[in-house]
Order: sequence, then structure tokens, then C-alpha cells
Amino acid sequence: MTRFAEFESRRAQVLRGGSPAAVERQHRRGRLTARERIDLLLDPGSFTETDAFVRHRCTAYGMDASRPDGDGVVTGHGTVDDRPVAVFAQDATVFGGSMGEAFGEKVLKIMDHALKVGCPVIGLNDSGGARIQEGVVALAHYAELVHRNVMVSGVIPQLSMILGPCAGGAAYSPALTDFTVMVKDISHMFVTGPDVIHSVTGEETTAEELGGALTSSAVNGTAHYLAHDEADAFDFVRGLLSYLPANNREAPPRYRQHSDPGITATDRELDEIVPANLGHAYDMREILRRIVDDGELLEIQELFAPNIICSFGRVEGSSVGIVANQPLHSAGALDINASEKAARFVRFCDAFGIPILSFVDVPGYLSGVRLEHEGIVRRGAKLLYAYAEATVPAITVVVRKAYGGGYAVMGSKHLGADLNLAWPTAQIAVMGAQGAVAVLHRKELRDAEDPELLRKQLTAEYENDYATPYLAAERGYLDAVILPHETRGRIVRGLRSLHGKHRPAPQRQHGNIPL
Ligand code: HXC
Repeated sequence: MTRFAEFESRRAQVLRGGSPAAVERQHRRGRLTARERIDLLLDPGSFTETDAFVRHRCTAYGMDASRPDGDGVVTGHGTVDDRPVAVFAQDATVFGGSMGEAFGEKVLKIMDHALKVGCPVIGLNDSGGARIQEGVVALAHYAELVHRNVMVSGVIPQLSMILGPCAGGAAYSPALTDFTVMVKDISHMFVTGPDVIHSVTGEETTAEELGGALTSSAVNGTAHYLAHDEADAFDFVRGLLSYLPANNREAPPRYRQHSDPGITATDRELDEIVPANLGHAYDMREILRRIVDDGELLEIQELFAPNIICSFGRVEGSSVGIVANQPLHSAGALDINASEKAARFVRFCDAFGIPILSFVDVPGYLSGVRLEHEGIVRRGAKLLYAYAEATVPAITVVVRKAYGGGYAVMGSKHLGADLNLAWPTAQIAVMGAQGAVAVLHRKELRDAEDPELLRKQLTAEYENDYATPYLAAERGYLDAVILPHETRGRIVRGLRSLHGKHRPAPQRQHGNIPL
């Protein structure tokens, strides 16, 4: 064989991946191969592969009989919408996508490349975790990978796609990255699979129940998007990347130069959304869609803690991160899941220079025996920490209720927001009228001839005098009380004025967020 022919033959084997039977099995299970996935993710023809001829050096368990080029992971770089990204795709058709020494070296190398050039890294995970035959060397490489995940965290965006059964390190490494996408029916993420659980604890479960896409998206919140198929997952990731800067030194991409801050017909619709009756819910998205460019929102963890919305959007073509209470669920109250979801999102935005818009309609932190026992104080504190730590431009709009701790945490002036606005419908107070009247006027109500009439009078008085935006505005805790239809224009102008905000970093090792 000539040198060129040998090369062509080796390259053809690399492109084929695992055995035809393994590829057929992967397809039969409704899953794509590593290369098919890369083609769906990247701009056509943009992929440049690295380390295609890397092979493992393991001899245990007769492994030296099979040393395929590439070793079960495809690595390289390419572009998404003409912007550079680094990618690794675990190939489940070779040793089950499990990670050994050579595999690990490839992944670490492409991550180092991403860090060097300052571009996002996207991991396509479909792996049985540490390669059993390679023992501690496989574990060492997983540990190095999670170390790398942490070292690049906040420097380059890290996105993980779970596209098969991901166990052990194949689940932990993605959990350390910024966003995790899963696909209905084919994705699973757990420390150990159902068989191991059965042998250790005797519990009977299925992969789907244990760590399927729905469980991970709606129950434990490990996943940030539940895709209905692989194509949908790749669309989401491409869309997500369009909001993100390449690294923490660059600004997020800008898609439009100018927005008219004048009042439009859509702006006027904002005046009609919040019901006059405090007990009535409404969909906060109706407000958000009228604020962002083209009404486009890209929600994160939509199925988890739906009482808070975390979403990317654009204002005047530039990315913003939106945190908004959702009155449709639990009246928008903050519980543990909502606090943790929003805290992580705020920290991501802050790390990557994405301004934060907060829309507030919150009756406060939820309490109760279960929540107290599960740590609403410790875990709810994360959101306070995240907001207080954030130094990106921050604009807050109080739409309706801002009671108690809910007022303080949701982007208040006191935690460092730059521009605080409220609608005339805002009620900023320690608590709602019913509760306040019951505490303040217990004795009078007890002794009254007609307690119900008195309660009504006192409630109306409290709502008029105390549950308003004007006491906060009086002290400068709000910069302005505005009509709903003025909000978008105010935000456009506010973000323009905050563009050059100086963000000095405090001198310390790091803060100590309650975990
Ligand atoms: C070597 C592995 C492997 C592994 C799978 N394979 N996992 N080979 N090391 N970890 C191989 C199988 O032997 C099989 O080879 C092929 O991949 C496909 O696997 P199947 O079991 O047939 O596939 P499936 O039924 O889809 O099940 C997938 C699975 C299961 C749920 C992932 O394989 C499994 O439970 N694997 C072990 C998971 C695990 O416990 N990993 C170690 C975790 S510890 P053949 O030749 O038959 O096709 C860890 C360290 C963490 O990761 C460190 C963190 C810092």
C-alpha cells in the first residue's frame, strides 16, 4: 500500500466510527452517530477535526486487540453562524463512548484550545462514563476533565448535550457546565443506571424515571432544555449561542444597531396586561414579549420552577438575561427551586457581561415546614447572593407585588441594581394588605362590632397609603414610577446609558455563596 493509500484507508476507518453493527444499533435506538451530530450542529463544511489518529495504549482485558483510530471521541473546531466553537462528540459506537486515557487527552486538548482562543466549547455526550478496562487512568482523566470544566467556568461558555445514557463522570462533567440539553426518549443522566441501583438498594426503576429527559428537566432541574428530537436540540443550542459572547472578555453579539425608544402600539398593550384584582394571575411572558426585540424569548429551564422565568432576549439587538416572577404558578412566590434556578442564571449573565432585567411580581419567599426543613433559608439565600454579587448593568421593573424578602431580592436598588422602575400598580411593602392588617390591628379587629367591615376599611387604607410605589420612590429606592407603555423605551435608554458601566472586581480569593 502506498503511503497515500494507507492514509486514505485509515481516514475512511476514522470516518466510519464503530462497527457497522454498532452504528446500526445506534440508529435503531433513534440516535445519531457522533459525526452526524457534528454535521447538524455546525455550519456546513466548517468542521476541522483534530486528533483523528489518537489511539489508546491499554492492554488490560485484551484491549490491545482493538485500537481504533480516534478512540471513540470526535474532537475539533468549526463555526455556528460563522462564530468559532470547539466541539467534542462522544461516539457510543466505540467502547460505548466510554472515556479512557487517550479519549480524555483529546477532550482536554480541545478544551484547552477553546480556552486559548476564547470560544465556547460544546460537548456531545453519549457515554458509559469512565472506561472500566482503563481503571484509575480513566478516573484520573475524568477528574482532570471536571477540573478543566471548573477552570474555564465563567471564561468561556460551556454547553452540554446529553444524547444517550450518560452515567458517572459522563453526567457530572456536564452538570458543571453552563447549560445542559436533553432529548426526549434518548437521553438519560444519572450517577448509576437502574441495574446498579437494583443491585445496591433493591429499588426497581427505569432509566426514564431515574434520569430521563423529563425527570432531569422538570423534577431535578439538571437539564436546561427538553428537546423533542436531536434536530430540535441542535436548533436550541445554535439559538442559545446567538445570545452568548465568545468569552468573558468579549461583548455578546449585537444584531441590530438601533431601536426606537418612542411609544409603539405594542407598548400600549402593556397597559392592559396586569389585572386590577391582586388575586388574579396573568402570564408574565405577555409583558416580556412586548419588551424584547421581535417578541423573542429563549427560556432556560422552562419546565423547572415555573414560578420564575429565566430567559434570554434582546433589546436593541443586544443580549439581556431576564429574571421574572411568574404569577401563573404559586402566585410567583420564591421557593427553593426558583431561587436556585434564578441564582445560577444571574451568575451566568454576570460572568459573561449580559445585562440583567428583572420583572417583579412576588408575594415573597414561600415558607412552611417542608420548605424550612429542605433549607429555604440556606438555599433561598443563593438568589440574594447572586444578585448582590452581580456587577453587570441591571434594570428592575416592579410590575405589581414586591413584598418582604421578595422586594429585597428581586433586583432591588439595595443589592446593586442600576435603574429601578415601578408601574403605578406596584405594591412595595413588607407584606400584603391582608397579612399586615391582621398583624397590626389584631386587637381592634377582635373588639370591633363589625370586624369584617373594619377589616375592609383597614385593608383599603393600607393599600392606598402603604402598598404603593411612592414610598420607595420618595427615598430614591426607585428611580422612576412610569406607565407600563413607557417601559421598553426606558429600558432601551437605560441600557444605552449603562453601556460603559465600570465593574471593578473586589480583591479576594472568591466569595462564599451558600451551597
Ligand atoms: C467500558 C463500556 C462502559 C464503560 C459501556 N460500555 N459502558 N465499556 N467502560 N464504562 C460498553 C459496553 O460494554 C458495550 O460494549 C457498549 O459499551 C454498549 O453498552 P451497553 O451496556 O450495551 O449499552 P446500553 O444498554 O445502552 O447501556 C448504557 C449504560 C451501561 C447505561 C451506560 O453501559 C452502563 O451502565 N455502563 C456503566 C456505567 C458506569 O457505571 N460507568 C462508570 C461510572 S464511574 P459491547 O462491546 O458489548 O458493545 C465514572 C467516574 C466518575 O464515570 C468520575 C467523576 C469525577
